[in-house]
Parts: sequence; C-alpha cells; structure tokens
Amino acid sequence: MMEKRKSTITTIILSLTLITAAGLTLQACAYEDDDDDDAYFLGSSLPRRVDFRPADDPRYLEECGSCHMAYPPGMLPAKSWQRIMSGLEDHFGENAELDTETTRQITEYLTANAADKTRIGRAPNVARSIGIDPPLRFTETRYFMNKHLEIPERLVTNNPDVGSFSRCEACHRGAEQGNYDEHQVRIPGVGRWDD
Ligand code: HEC
Ligand code: HEC
Repeated sequence: MMEKRKSTITTIILSLTLITAAGLTLQACAYEDDDDDDAYFLGSSLPRRVDFRPADDPRYLEECGSCHMAYPPGMLPAKSWQRIMSGLEDHFGENAELDTETTRQITEYLTANAADKTRIGRAPNVARSIGIDPPLRFTETRYFMNKHLEIPERLVTNNPDVGSFSRCEACHRGAEQGNYDEHQVRIPGVGRWDD
C-alpha cells in the first residue's frame, strides 16, 4: 500500500518535471521567434542595447537632422528611402530639397544601411513587415503600428510635448542612442508606461 502511494507520487513528480522541461523548451523556441526580442548588443565589455543603429553619416546628420531627429536608416527599406529622397521638394509639406550631389550621397548612405540591407536590431523584422508599396513613413509601417496600438491619440497629437508619433525622442529617452526598449519609455505628462 505504502509502496504504491510512493510510486504514484514519484510518477507525479516525474511528470511535472517533464511538463516543466517541455514548457521551457517551448519558451526557448518562442524566444528565438519573438519579434520583440531582437535587440542587438554592441560592444563586448559593456554591452549596449541597440534596437535601431543610430545614423552616423555626418552629411546625413546635418541635412536631415535639423527639423526632426535623423532617423536611423534601418527603420525603412531601401525603396522607401529612394522614394523619400526623390521627392524632397515636397517633403510632408516642407521643402527639404538638396543639391544633386548631396542628394546622391545621402541616398547612397540610406539605401546601403536600409532595413532590408542590415541584420542589426529590429531592422530585419521591419523589412519583413513591409508589403509591396514602400511606405514614406516608418510610423505607417505595420511594424510600428503594432507596437503602438495601445497608445491613445490624446497622449500624442493632443499632447503639446509630443505632437506626432514621428517625434520618437519625445517618448523614447534612449532614441538618440538607438535604444527603444519599452521599459525606457516616458510619455511627457504621463511618465512611465506600464501596459
Ligand atoms: C525643412 C524641415 C525638414 C527637413 C530638412 C527634413 N525633413 Fe523629414 N520631415 C519633415 C516633416 C515636417 C515631417 C513630418 C513630421 C510629422 O508628421 O510629425 C518629416 C518626416 C520625415 C520622415 C517620416 C517620419 C515618420 O513618421 O516615420 C522621414 C523618414 C523623413 N522625414 C526623412 C527625412 C530625410 C531623409 C531628410 C533629409 C534629406 C529630411 N527628412 C529632412 C521635415 C523635414
Ligand atoms: C507618444 C510616445 C511615443 C512616441 C512618439 C513613439 N513611441 Fe515607440 N513606444 C511608445 C510606447 C509607450 C511603447 C510601448 C508600447 C507597449 O508596450 O504597448 C513603444 C514601443 C516601441 C517599440 C517596441 C519596444 C519594445 O521594447 O518592444 C519600438 C521599436 C518603438 N516604440 C519605436 C519607436 C520609434 C522608432 C518612434 C518614432 C518614429 C516611436 N517609437 C515613437 C511610445 C512612443
């Protein structure tokens, strides 16, 4: 009688261990496939999280970083950058036209480091989310919209300290360093974001 009970308990413990192990294996697979966990860590002694590698071309930073932050090239596929760069005279209602040579050089930099040309951080996932039509805005990609679904309009357009989703750095304190970790987000007037 005692023996039987013991073996039943052993069986239960064994099954639980197996179930847990299976669960962990499943989790490990899910982790690899998870779009959210694709940050890239730069450096060896002090790893630095990089979701989008910050722009680093001096000409691009100067010409395209005056009205808004110089968006990381990895946020859009090459076809989008080509579209943007070939319509600068009417750029979201502004004239951002540049001379031919500067336009050519910046286009080259952006397309060479575009979402579909790099494996760093979230860029490959952004590239995969793009349909046939290359968007003019990162904020109009499925990737971006999925990540910001839960944020009500009043916290963005009706918020004088934000104004538009295009102002990443208003909420993402690490934007200039390429860090878009949701735990670093502080929406002005709202503070820490807990979903
Ligand atoms: C004269 C000001 C000005 C300059 C210079 C400028 N932009 Fe813009 N850009 C804007 C405005 C305005 C918007 C729309 C912002 C908004 O909707 O809040 C915008 C939006 C964008 C967006 C879309 C952001 C999103 O919503 O995902 C991209 C990409 C962009 N600009 C790229 C560039 C590039 C590349 C250059 C340099 C060739 C450049 N911009 C230079 C004014 C400018
Ligand atoms: C109004 C504030 C706000 C603005 C502006 C904003 N974001 Fe976000 N972003 C958030 C919040 C809040 C979250 C977390 C959402 C959630 O967890 O539901 C987030 C999440 C993200 C994530 C996913 C982070 C993670 O850890 O999975 C990325 C990537 C991101 N944002 C990029 C951007 C980029 C690039 C821009 C500019 C083009 C931008 N965001 C503009 C508030 C903002």
